[in-house]
Amino acid sequence: MSAIILDGKKLAESVRAEVREGVSKFVAEHGRAPGLEVVLVGEDPASQVYTRNKEKASLEVGIRGKLHSLPADTSEAALLELLGRLNADDTVDGILVQLPLPKHISEQKVLDLVLPAKDVDGFHPVNAGLLASGRPGLVPCTPRGCMKLIASSGTKLLGLRAVVVGRSNIVGKPIAQLLLAEHATVTIAHSRTKDLPALCREADVLIAAVGKAEMIRGDWVKEGAIVIDVGINRVDLPPNSAPDAKKTKLVGDVAFDEAKARAGAITPVPGGVGPMTIACLLENTLLAASARLAR
Ligand code: GUN
Repeated sequence: MSAIILDGKKLAESVRAEVREGVSKFVAEHGRAPGLEVVLVGEDPASQVYTRNKEKASLEVGIRGKLHSLPADTSEAALLELLGRLNADDTVDGILVQLPLPKHISEQKVLDLVLPAKDVDGFHPVNAGLLASGRPGLVPCTPRGCMKLIASSGTKLLGLRAVVVGRSNIVGKPIAQLLLAEHATVTIAHSRTKDLPALCREADVLIAAVGKAEMIRGDWVKEGAIVIDVGINRVDLPPNSAPDAKKTKLVGDVAFDEAKARAGAITPVPGGVGPMTIACLLENTLLAASARLAR
């Protein structure tokens, strides 16, 4: 059996189309577009690409996206001051600070300062707490994207065994909460988990969010399982003398070709979870804007 490939690019396009429509209605009703401010500190090349893509994707659906690119030596005080201004600006509906931050800046202080109502990343402890309590709030984008991909496979999660590999605040913990809310039986595994392959083999739904290239092998996957690969890892390719040969490629946390032979459905890398993250950010921005104006 070969798995169904869950096409994140296509699904993201349909989410964006819905957001575009919602934004048009918002503009007609309120006379302004929802505003998203993305803040990047430093010159990390991957973060530069991500944040530029976030700004571009916003503009494409009619959101007033703005990227603040600050130098790596920006002081913590200056960043907090900018966030204070964005918090106070009524035309700003969503604020996103790209992580990781330079070492001299406290991530906790920064995330805590963003108003929960504008926290489109869903990283503020108030939003994390609301999610853990099963109450409405802004939910992190990547986990939301994963849930949409699972739903697109037609799977009902009730009673299924889900294993989440990775316990980050950005992906592992929030996706575990979302799976639990859909009545799955959820285990969060991590680097200290004993006999991880055996645990993964019990999973009807396997979420890989560890950031280690192709760590999860094909024989860790239960026959027919749904595999959601959150990893985006750049790896070197073997030397090739062709002048235009690529030197690196992107791979997930799952050994895709091996896993595909056993899974019922699987997300590719690239083109799986990645495009869904940005689509869900746009959706969160529209949700935040609508919720703020409904108050
Ligand atoms: N760095 C890696 N993933 C993310 C994300 O989802 N949001 C932010 N702000 N930074 C990240």
